[in-house]
Amino acid sequence: MYVCSQCSDLLDVERREPLGQSAEELRALWLERLKSREARDRSGVWRFREFLPFGSADVVVSLGEGNTPLYDAPRSADYCGLSSLKLKHQGNNPTGSFKDTGMTVAVTQALKLGMRLVACASTGNTAASLAAYAARARILCAILVPEGQVSDAKLAQALDYGAKVLEIEGNFDVCMRVIQELAEQSSLYLVNSINPFRIEGQKTVAFELAEQLDWNVPDHLVVPGGNLGNSSAFGKGFRELLSHGFTRKQPRISVIQAEGAAPFARFAQHCDSEFVHEKHPHTLASAIKIGAPVSWKKAWRAVRETGGQVITVTEQEIADAKAMIGRDGVGCEPASATTVAGIRKLVGDGAIGKDEKVVAVLTGHVLKDTDYVIKYHNQTLATENGEKIRGTFANSIMRVAARSCAIENALKSLF
Ligand code: F0G
Repeated sequence: MYVCSQCSDLLDVERREPLGQSAEELRALWLERLKSREARDRSGVWRFREFLPFGSADVVVSLGEGNTPLYDAPRSADYCGLSSLKLKHQGNNPTGSFKDTGMTVAVTQALKLGMRLVACASTGNTAASLAAYAARARILCAILVPEGQVSDAKLAQALDYGAKVLEIEGNFDVCMRVIQELAEQSSLYLVNSINPFRIEGQKTVAFELAEQLDWNVPDHLVVPGGNLGNSSAFGKGFRELLSHGFTRKQPRISVIQAEGAAPFARFAQHCDSEFVHEKHPHTLASAIKIGAPVSWKKAWRAVRETGGQVITVTEQEIADAKAMIGRDGVGCEPASATTVAGIRKLVGDGAIGKDEKVVAVLTGHVLKDTDYVIKYHNQTLATENGEKIRGTFANSIMRVAARSCAIENALKSLF
């Protein structure tokens, strides 16, 4: 029996035993599938289906998710004080965020259950992702978003994919509470990351990453922390890889939160005391503006088990790290940049050694929040309470007369 989304946040999906094949045989099978034209084989999630909770005959709802790049990022490495750094870019998914790797599994389950309506609360990316997968599955979709706190790009996606967008007066935590209450009373299928099928899909990113590293794992894996589903999923993925003999160790999983939305970091600091919600979370990284993360227990297990850390970074640190990731030709949305900002801090504190192998997980595409990017480079970015963010690495737009000599002069500044 699989548990449903409305169950306790500690329950897991019953894991399907690998089909009597050794780690070596499965690795070869997964590689072989890359040559196939079948949708499930081409999906970076379903390619690892021996570890997913559906039989091989099932129809899946897929948009070709996963198979995301692992980039070398020399400028970001330098910025962090590391000899090298890799960026696992989950923003290269069909709807531009890591949410797709979980959504393909959760919406497949909704279809299997015959659900007519799927729903979520969201800071934008879950909404965009659910809207797309629900459209593929021809299931009705409703999303609750905090009014005025979601980027236009994310809203535009959800609208185009045909979801009913409900703007709620209040922040993400209010949306989350209301939708959970509603899910208890009605037959809508809730797909926030308390839904264990989401975690199952997202855990396959650990498989893909390990494969990209020839089945070696990094010393450190660093992820942003919001509702804490992603860190939970990485914890589960690397735990399963180790226990089934695919890898020889787990990476230390560290979670980075924005200073103004950091209930998990505070909890980690006071180790095992009560988990206190942040009533008024604030950060310009709107994707992680969350004060009452639903998956904190599973995320805590991942951090504690692997010896990772939970730390905070400032708005200025996030903005500068984001610009640096851009200079590597990669780019990401603000929430993702907490990782590089956090790594820099952990290297500075001696928690990460200069030559250790580090992977930062970038969770969203640079085009998810262009307003933030333009403001940073125009030096007009400011926090909710008016604190100005310096454009340390600003790349301002120049206004130039429509004359070749004026343009030539302007270009001299490049050299
Ligand atoms: N990065 C991005 C780009 C996100 O959209 C989110 C979460 C996170 C990081 C944090 O991941 O919640 O698993 O700890 N976005 C959710 C949403 C809350 O509604 O799109 P997490």
